[in-house]
Amino acid sequence: METREAIELVLKFMEQAEQRNEPVIRLRSPGQLQQVFEEAGVSLPMETPQKTHSNEEILRALQAVLDYSVHTQHPRFFNQNFAGPDPVAVVGDWFGAALNTTNATYEAAPVFTMMEHSLLQKLAATAGMKRAEGLFGAGGSLSNLLAMHLARHHKYPKANEEGLPSSVRLVAFTSEHAHYSLKKSAALMGLGYNNLRAVACDATGRMRPDALEEAILQAKQRGETPFFLNATAGTTVTAAFDPFVDLLPLAREHGLWFHVDGCYGASALFSEQHKHLMEGVEQADSLAWNLHKMMGITQQCSALLVAHPGLLRSCFATGAGYLFQPDKEHAELDSGDRHFQCARRVDVLKLWLTWKVRGDQGFTQRVNKAVANAKQFTAMLQEHEKQSFALALPPSFTNVCFWWLPPNLRGVSPDQWQPQDWETIHKLAPQIKRKMQEHGTAMLGFQSLNNLPNFFRMICINSVVDHQDLRKVLDLIECYGYEAIS
Ligand SMILES: Cc1ncc(COP(=O)(O)O)c(C=O)c1O
Repeated sequence: METREAIELVLKFMEQAEQRNEPVIRLRSPGQLQQVFEEAGVSLPMETPQKTHSNEEILRALQAVLDYSVHTQHPRFFNQNFAGPDPVAVVGDWFGAALNTTNATYEAAPVFTMMEHSLLQKLAATAGMKRAEGLFGAGGSLSNLLAMHLARHHKYPKANEEGLPSSVRLVAFTSEHAHYSLKKSAALMGLGYNNLRAVACDATGRMRPDALEEAILQAKQRGETPFFLNATAGTTVTAAFDPFVDLLPLAREHGLWFHVDGCYGASALFSEQHKHLMEGVEQADSLAWNLHKMMGITQQCSALLVAHPGLLRSCFATGAGYLFQPDKEHAELDSGDRHFQCARRVDVLKLWLTWKVRGDQGFTQRVNKAVANAKQFTAMLQEHEKQSFALALPPSFTNVCFWWLPPNLRGVSPDQWQPQDWETIHKLAPQIKRKMQEHGTAMLGFQSLNNLPNFFRMICINSVVDHQDLRKVLDLIECYGYEAIS
């Protein structure tokens, strides 16, 4: 394969990816995809034995990869809480991939060790966490798991060696809208799903402090040991922010580690206008923060900050003699023994580069634009000339959850919908989405929550989106909605 020619393909793709007349996705069935690659001359399945291919065949196959993948850079991609990357981050990722080293030791990654240290300090200062240290790792789910592990280690420092005394039943708390990685973490930690207590939320999706207090007291009455509270900054569906300031005193009173899952919403800290949403985070014991979500850094770029200096090392160090030799040059700067992972991608480079190019100001603008787009989209929905749309839940931060309504339900409050109306609405979102995918015109997600029928979740973080894209999505939904009911 001619590397330079392959890179040219990607560069061309990146230059064109934002074109509005291009599809977001050319959706094909698995069989059709296999055929596309057959026609390119390179089969999609691996073969035994696997033969080699010519440069022309490989370039055709790579073009098919670009053509038939989802174009998250497209101005009408709203499907997830990430979107197209900042091109600067892509360059950083390439440099990192070309150097292919691990961030675990100074010996293997002197430059990246320095970058990581400095980025963590900058992120901690941005969050107001004065004594925090941390690490970058393989995603927010892992950060949440590690935070839970750190919390146990903090409470029972001997548990790593001896396990827990049989009399101890640990219980953790999180909101009913928390990310599912918390549930998985409870399983991996040996707590079991049932010992992660889902605390009720208010109508806006924020954890209710009174419900938390009740859940903690109930656990204590049963002789259980509450040890961990996860508060979410930007829940996955509604982007709600739990009220940290009201939850913190409860965590402190009952001896709970206070973790903030800010994987999505911690980036509000970059904005003077919106950082109030994170008030109280400066007192957190740990914070998970994915820069690969709102900030457009390529996946993954995920930081875990911990406000207990030395705890990461005391929790994770195993002193592997072949890697962390204490008598080598700059051994004290090795980070690997403070993390669960061994090899760690140098995800810091792409963040460092993007932050250097965009500056604090660029980061602020990105967050402000996302929230402004969500506000504008909400207004468009509410002021729609045909009243075709209704909010399913109160909008929060960058997310707007809404329904498209068939004409007979316009102006009718959801509490007056009959069971058959619920059924119709519930089926409409998947039908409309299917049409979007068929035509490749837009992508946004849908789901049900709080026993509501399926609604669309518009996530306004794609940085290339403008007013006309927001309007176009509504027009498309309206058009496909009518097709679905006709
Ligand atoms: C609130 C929240 N926490 C954690 C995660 C998990 O992050 P990752 O996908 O990096 O594992 C997500 C992912 O969407 C999320 O929305």
